[in-house]
Amino acid sequence: MNPLRQLSLDQLRQRTSMKWRYYPEDVLPVWVAEMDVPLAEPVARAIIEAVKRGDTGYPNGTAYAEALAEFAKKRWDWAPAVERTAIVPDVMLGVVEMFRLVSHRDAPVVVNCPVYPPFYQFIESLGRTVVEAPLGDSWRIDFAALQDAFVRAGEGSVYLLCNPHNPTGTVHTAAELEEVAELARRHGIRVVADEIHAPLTTAGFVPYLSVADDGLSVMSATKGWNLAGLKAALAIAGPDAAEDLARLPEEVGHGPSHVGVIGHTAAFRDGVDWLDALLDGIDENRRLLTDLLAEHLPAVRHTPGQGTYLAWLDCRGLGLGDDPAKTFLKRGKVALNSGLPFGTGGAGFVRMNLATSPEVITEAVRRMAFAWNETSS
Ligand SMILES: Cc1ncc(COP(=O)(O)O)c(C=O)c1O
Repeated sequence: MNPLRQLSLDQLRQRTSMKWRYYPEDVLPVWVAEMDVPLAEPVARAIIEAVKRGDTGYPNGTAYAEALAEFAKKRWDWAPAVERTAIVPDVMLGVVEMFRLVSHRDAPVVVNCPVYPPFYQFIESLGRTVVEAPLGDSWRIDFAALQDAFVRAGEGSVYLLCNPHNPTGTVHTAAELEEVAELARRHGIRVVADEIHAPLTTAGFVPYLSVADDGLSVMSATKGWNLAGLKAALAIAGPDAAEDLARLPEEVGHGPSHVGVIGHTAAFRDGVDWLDALLDGIDENRRLLTDLLAEHLPAVRHTPGQGTYLAWLDCRGLGLGDDPAKTFLKRGKVALNSGLPFGTGGAGFVRMNLATSPEVITEAVRRMAFAWNETSS
């Protein structure tokens, strides 16, 4: 059963998380990457059983890594070596720890803009500089731009690769990732891959570490099963990065929640049928969005991504300026992510969250069209 069709708006509005409480009740939220789904039953069961046991102490062991390895082997024909993994509090904090392991304290970080805004926030709060390498045609990696960014960043810098890419849903190919690895080596740059959206790809996902032995990756069940409130993630090293990961300070492993680790483990181990039903639902929603935009907002351009549930909408044809999300919110009472914090290339774009019911998507586009009509009439 499609998990995206199981909850009513009334039920969702009882939630107290960011998506449902940041804006007033009359605003329809299709922004932050939370999904409008009930918790997958195997995950809920594992957490409830842990609570019944009073099993709320500190995390221990490799169950999370083993569950991910089994999942990854079946889905991607690749598996992390359990002994080269470490649990970390969440993906972004894991990414920051990877930067610390492989680069000098003020080494710049290269990113492919437009990209998930916290990439900028976390890098800057570490006191480092972001060097942008804009994505190219069809939101694929532009290798000339990447090389230029590597030169500007300099040897000893880091490249934070988003695989699949948020917000465009680009799933990088094996050939592209091999080229990334080769280019990075040539410029003396270490690659850290944020692969949080990997479970949300139906086909074609290539783990960065399957092509680069010196890479580091951070993976998690957070996006695939909507577990942001259950803090946990896994840092993974390729064979040639094993010594780097071995230097991870022990206290980093105190950050993830034990109950979080239990939930994430159950997701990868027992949540596959649920995930497959979800992926079908997301696909359906992508097609619905294409039809709705063609009908109500034909000036909006959208290249459906192959991964994740986020849609990156080019609204420059609407004449709403650099921040169309502002108009949609003010006049249409629909909350999308503004493209501006996604860095260079984000002006005139909005990000929409398709991990919701077809009714909510329909209503969101109706509100966007209403806002645009109001503004242009
Ligand atoms: C690319 C990317 N990385 C990291 C995160 C956040 O993950 P975490 O909450 O585990 O830090 C998100 C959340 O949407 C994301 O899209």
